[in-house]
Amino acid sequence: MQKRILSGMRPTGSLHIGHLSVIQNWVSLQKEYESYFTIVDWHALTTGYEDKLDFKKLIREIALDWLSVGIDPDKSTVFVQSHVKEHAELHLLFSMFTPLSWLERVPTYKDQIQQLGQSGKDLSTYGFLGYPLLQAADILVYKANAVPVGEDQLPHIELCREVARRFNYLFEPVFPEPKGLVGKVPLLPGVDGRKMSKSYNNAISLTASQEEIKSRVQQMITDPGRVRKDDPGNPEVCIVHKFHEIYTAEVADVQENCRGGKIGCVACKKHLAENLDKLLSPFRERRAYWEEPGRVEGVLKEGAERARATASETMKDVRNAMGL
Ligand code: TRP
Ligand code: SF4
Repeated sequence: MQKRILSGMRPTGSLHIGHLSVIQNWVSLQKEYESYFTIVDWHALTTGYEDKLDFKKLIREIALDWLSVGIDPDKSTVFVQSHVKEHAELHLLFSMFTPLSWLERVPTYKDQIQQLGQSGKDLSTYGFLGYPLLQAADILVYKANAVPVGEDQLPHIELCREVARRFNYLFEPVFPEPKGLVGKVPLLPGVDGRKMSKSYNNAISLTASQEEIKSRVQQMITDPGRVRKDDPGNPEVCIVHKFHEIYTAEVADVQENCRGGKIGCVACKKHLAENLDKLLSPFRERRAYWEEPGRVEGVLKEGAERARATASETMKDVRNAMGL
């Protein structure tokens, strides 16, 4: 039987090119695996219940981002977490036998309280402690065999495996123990050299137009030791070069031309902007298709139906095993 994967993202705003490798990894996996990709709106509430998030808009944005990068609803099931109530039921049942200490020792729990707590967020809630348990329910309600995620999520996958093991031991062997599939994620800085993040205003959005790309590349800091364009440069200290390393096949030429003072920074930036534009232009075309009224809604509706069909089968096994 074809192996199954599930992954998800919180709908917290439109994506930038730093997210691209993760979604492109999903796009290649969807050919090989029976794939479920979910927009986890409940998870967004665990750290932002006071934010009055505009979920309708946020869900549409992230779904468009996924579809425009090449998530194919004929191959993959794309849906919103809160449309499939089975996730909540499984989370509740898991909560009955999951020791508090397991949740308290998940490393992201204390880290996030330290980081986000400083921004005045209230994280002393039941929902926030249960974040990884809800994630385990997201995964196990589909009996997924693998979960493509970033490295930061591995502690959550570990908890998921422990919960599956405990269920199987206490009741009946219903669940697989899913593996984390960590894809290669190139370390991409923002245009100012800090981490790329919408909140730092240093990101290149997936929807950036040619003009926006140009102006972002314009902002990138080059080798400050280079005054004239025929001065030898040092690509190692240049943000433009960091992007060339990821997006330019002939990066060796760029390095040589820079070191030899054979190319000016203006031309070097123009070259990068062209490559970024080539990268994003197929997404623009697909996005235009999916932006037509009703199309995203149709994908999410059908996705929820397909997801529910699988999830409700699992829940039958679960209720049976627990004697409900
Ligand atoms: N915690 C994940 C993140 O922040 C999002 C997520 C929720 C998820 N449920 C999931 C990822 C299930 C993979 C599988 O990125
Ligand atoms: Fe950076 Fe290119 Fe200028 Fe070299 S030539 S410093 S790599 S922008």
